[in-house]
Amino acid sequence: MIYIKVEIRQEIEIDYSEVYKLNKAAFGQESEAKLVDLLRKNNAFIPGLSLVATIGQKIVGHILFTKIKIIDNNGNESGSLALAPMSVRPDMQRQGIGEQLIGFGLNKAIKLGHKSVIVLGHEHYYPKFGFVPAEKWKINAPFDVSTNAFMGIELAEDGLRNVTGTVQYPKEFEAV
Ligand SMILES: CC(C)(COP(=O)(O)OP(=O)(O)OC[C@H]1O[C@@H](n2cnc3c(N)ncnc32)[C@H](O)[C@@H]1OP(=O)(O)O)[C@@H](O)C(=O)NCCC(=O)NCCS
Repeated sequence: MIYIKVEIRQEIEIDYSEVYKLNKAAFGQESEAKLVDLLRKNNAFIPGLSLVATIGQKIVGHILFTKIKIIDNNGNESGSLALAPMSVRPDMQRQGIGEQLIGFGLNKAIKLGHKSVIVLGHEHYYPKFGFVPAEKWKINAPFDVSTNAFMGIELAEDGLRNVTGTVQYPKEFEAV
């Protein structure tokens, strides 16, 4: 496999249109690109966790982590992060850019004091970063999903201890 080394930095406002085009190209539709535009206006948005991968001036990848709640049967709420969406330019996929974005993003989330991340994604991809099925903590998705595709990771020791329940995403996710 060819490995492409990228620079990763926080997204800034002038990147928004490039990030839109990137998401549209990677997903082959506009839903995720629109979702990112909407999420930036939600208070679940964390500017330091909207990250772009660059080669020179060109943006070749993007990853976003937003605040979510995990709510148990008694209505108790715990905070966590959702990793979504994530995209790499179609002609540059499978060359390690996604891996660099996830690694950088998880480290930055730790530095910002976040305790855990939840992802709905490919069950053979995320475990290499330490994600395991969220059922370990009895954390469920708010929709039907295959158990192994709904995963979590603790960013701090016991980051999900006593955290259980159903994930509540920002409402913007409902349209996707
Ligand atoms: C998912 C994505 C961001 C991964 O980025 P990337 O730079 O290609 O990832 P990496 O090079 O670090 O890793 C490649 C590995 O990812 C795995 N993988 C990731 N997503 C996958 C998927 N949806 N289906 C199958 N394999 C996937 C594969 O195992 C692949 O390894 P392989 O080439 O040995 O089979 C990129 O492929 C993409 O933009 N896809 C379209 C958008 C998307 O589906 N985003 C994820 C949902 S939010």
